[in-house]
Formats: sequence, C-alpha cells, structure tokens
Amino acid sequence: MSGDQIIIFDTTLRDGEQSPGCSMNTREKLEVARALVELGVDVIEAGFPIASPGDFDAVRQIAEKFGDRTTICALARSRDEDIEKAKGALVNAAKRRIHVFLATSAIHREFKLKMDKAQIIERAISSVKMAKEFTDDVEFSPEDAARTELDFLCEVVEKTIDAGATTVNIPDTVGYATPNHYFKVISYLKQNVPNINNAIISSHCHDDLGLAVANSLAAIEAGARQVECTINGLGERAGNAALEEIVMALRTRADYYKVHTKINTQKLYPTSHLVSSITGMKVQRNKAIVGQNAFAHEAGIHQHGILQERSTYEIMRPQDVGYVGQNLVLGKHSGRHAFRDRVAQLGFQLDDAATQKAFDDFIALADKKKEVYDSDIVALIENRMEENGDRWKLISFHTSAGSSAIPTATIQLQYLEEPVLCDAAIGDGPIDAVFKAMERIVGLTARLEQFDVRSVSEGKDALGEVRVTINLGGRHFQGKGVSTDIIEAAAAAYLKALNKAVSAGVTA
Ligand code: KIV
Ligand code: ZN
Repeated sequence: MSGDQIIIFDTTLRDGEQSPGCSMNTREKLEVARALVELGVDVIEAGFPIASPGDFDAVRQIAEKFGDRTTICALARSRDEDIEKAKGALVNAAKRRIHVFLATSAIHREFKLKMDKAQIIERAISSVKMAKEFTDDVEFSPEDAARTELDFLCEVVEKTIDAGATTVNIPDTVGYATPNHYFKVISYLKQNVPNINNAIISSHCHDDLGLAVANSLAAIEAGARQVECTINGLGERAGNAALEEIVMALRTRADYYKVHTKINTQKLYPTSHLVSSITGMKVQRNKAIVGQNAFAHEAGIHQHGILQERSTYEIMRPQDVGYVGQNLVLGKHSGRHAFRDRVAQLGFQLDDAATQKAFDDFIALADKKKEVYDSDIVALIENRMEENGDRWKLISFHTSAGSSAIPTATIQLQYLEEPVLCDAAIGDGPIDAVFKAMERIVGLTARLEQFDVRSVSEGKDALGEVRVTINLGGRHFQGKGVSTDIIEAAAAAYLKALNKAVSAGVTA
C-alpha cells in the first residue's frame, strides 16, 4: 500500500440517519454497524446519545458489540449533559471516541448561540477537556467551519488541540464550500496553526451544491487524513459525501492521491444495498459505484471496446466493488450445497435456520419462474432478514378487481400467536383495498407518502419489489416486500411499515 492511510469515519448512523425519512430502529442500526465493521471502516459514529433514549441505547449496544473491533464514536454538543450521555453510551467500548461540536461562524454565533468569540473558545476548551477525562480519543468540530473567519478558525483549532483534541474536523455544514476554497481552508490551517501536527485534520462535507465528494478529495490533497462520509451519501438535506465514491476515487486514482484506505471494497455494493434496503432510500440507477447502471455499457461502440479489452471503457471492475449483477445462477435442481456456496459468495453469513428458510424461498421461486438470478437471491434473503421482530403476520389475502368491478380485498392477519383476524375493504384499486383492510385490522390509519415498484431481475415473471413509506402522526416508517405477485409484495411492504410503527409504540 502506498502513502498515508486515510481514516474512514462513517457517519451513516448519525448524520445519515438525520436524513428525512431515514430513521432506523436499534436492530437495524446494529445490522448496519455489523456491515460497516466488515467493510473495514476505522470509526463508526453510532449516534447522538442525548437526542433520545432510543439513540442512547443504540450507541450503547453498538459500543458493546463492536467496540473491540472498530472505534465507536458518540456525538455531543459542547455541553456537560451531552458529554455525560456520550460517556454513558460508550462505557463498554474498548475503542471509543467522543465527538464534541460547537458552531464558530459569525452567523451561528450571532443568531443561534448568541455567544461572542471568547465565550465560544472557553466553551470549546472546557468541553474537550471534559471528554478527555473519559477517553484519549477526542474529536472537536467547529460547526460551520467553512463559513468561519479563517483567523478565528485557526484560534479555535489551536486551543482545542491544546485542550486535548486528537482530531479536528472542519465541517462544511451547509455545503457551501467549493473544492478550491476548501483546499485553501485546510492548507491555511496547516500553515497557520502552530500545533496542527498534534492532531489529525478531518473533512466533513455536505452535498448541497453536489460537491461533497470533490471537496473531501480536495481536503485530502491539502493534508486531511480523516474523511467523514456515509454509505450512499445519506445525510441532512442533500446528504454527506458518499463513502463508496471517496474510497473508489482514492483507489482508482492511487497514482495521483498516493494514499490508501483499509476498506474492503468488495463489500461496498452489498453494504450500499443493505443501507438502501433498511432506510428505504433508493439508490439512483446512475449513481457512481453502486448504481444499477454503474457497470452497464449500452452503446455498441463501448460494448465492442469492452469485448476487445475491458480497460477501454472500464476504470473499475464490477467485482472490485462487489457488484451483484443479473448473473444467472441456480435452477430448481441445484442442490442445497450449491445454494449455500452462492449465498456465501454473495456476502451473507446465515446460520442453518436462516439458510433453510432462504433455500425454501428459493425453491418456491424457482417453481414459479424459469430463471433465478443473483439479484433474486439477494432480495429473498433481505426480505427474510426484514421479518425479524414483526408482530403482525400476513396469513392470506384475496383481491378482486377489474374494469367493471369494485376493487375489494379480504385479508387475514395474525398478531403474534393470537387467533387469526379477518377483514375486508374496498378501495381505488386492489392495492388500496389491501392497505385499507390491513389498517382496519391493525387499528392504524397511515398516510402513504411513497410507493415504488421495481423488478428485481429480468423477464415477465420477474420478482417484483415494492417499497413504501408511510406517515403516522408525523413519523415515517418504511417497508419493503418482494414477490412475483406485486399485490402480495405491496401487502408485505405495507404490513412491514405498519409493524415498524407498532414496534415504535405508535397507537391510533
Ligand atoms: O455538518 C455538521 O457540521 C455536523 C457536525 C455535527 C460535525 O454534522
Ligand atoms: Zn454534518
């Protein structure tokens, strides 16, 4: 490996989770944390413990489970009560970091904090010192650094390093920076902060102008050695810098950047898929690195070039990012061993019971459609993973619809082990009728905010995937379902979302 190692600080579970409609429950956060550990990130920012008891508990569980393998970080404002909560959540992590932040720009000082420069410096120093009593690994962020006067920024950075900060993060909180500007900010700090070599400089860029990745790379060129980013670029508003894009840019252009990361790049695609599936936030088809079209060559001239020599039109190999394409895999007569091997190659570690369920689903699917693809298998496995913890189960559904019929649905649901309940409803179409019948049984009425259908693989008999987002009293819940019958997929997705609402304690 050539050059310095860039520390990959993943904030999918903190800044990413702040993205509208992307909140995750603790089980889902643990699942994402596991994937991030396997991906090889250096630091996981697991949450903001003061924000809610749920956030606190998720950070605590992630710290307990993974804090011996990866540094687990908790966010805190520069306030004693925040730092206390962060300490409480991290207590069981061997590798732990507290990340304290305080805004420094004139706009934030005047309108948000109503504090002058001296008060900001004093508060920043005291909070870094307080965090330092608990752990050596302390990060300080002058929030809105990219809009802060450079001389004041230098002063804050110098004083917080003196107080014990081992990482100084320079957030472009509102996505205002441009690459050359951000490069100059980092360079200025390097040249004008006398103790700058006692800490690692970190970048944290938002994507409001679509420049988050470009700005992060500019920071690395200027000497930043930690980069804060999220899977699929999730995050506040337009999001944060996308981890997969930064990592692959550094790897593909190692000739230029002359640095490396410890990321296992073959896990990028599966991790992206998992995060998208859990948050319900779709990855756009033409998204760099992990989009469905990222490795598709359509133009004849490109296809011809690729057939002669891949490097004519391909700067990365699909397998380098763990891309799962439309490979035709197994048929109905493939044995259990072949299936188990394929599942492992796709990056899943399933126990015997989960393998058996996945195999049964695969056989059932192979009975319905001629060709089963890798992407079908991934969808089936993820679908089963999503089932954990569901209280309401779909026992059966029946719909009738047509140009001259009133769309009607009859549904049977079961709550845990209680007797099966049945109800019926009419709707604008069969799917609307299914949703209404379910709501009558569950006793919740939600607003449907998003409904997406896609085909998982090719062909008229393809597996259909439905994703829904529902709104219940201002809270958003996502659900996903797959089936060769899209009404069944829609029913499963809607019930999943209702189940999440029930688990979160939402009542009528
Ligand atoms: O964007 C931002 O400024 C942040 C800080 C908390 C680091 O997310
Ligand atoms: Zn941020």
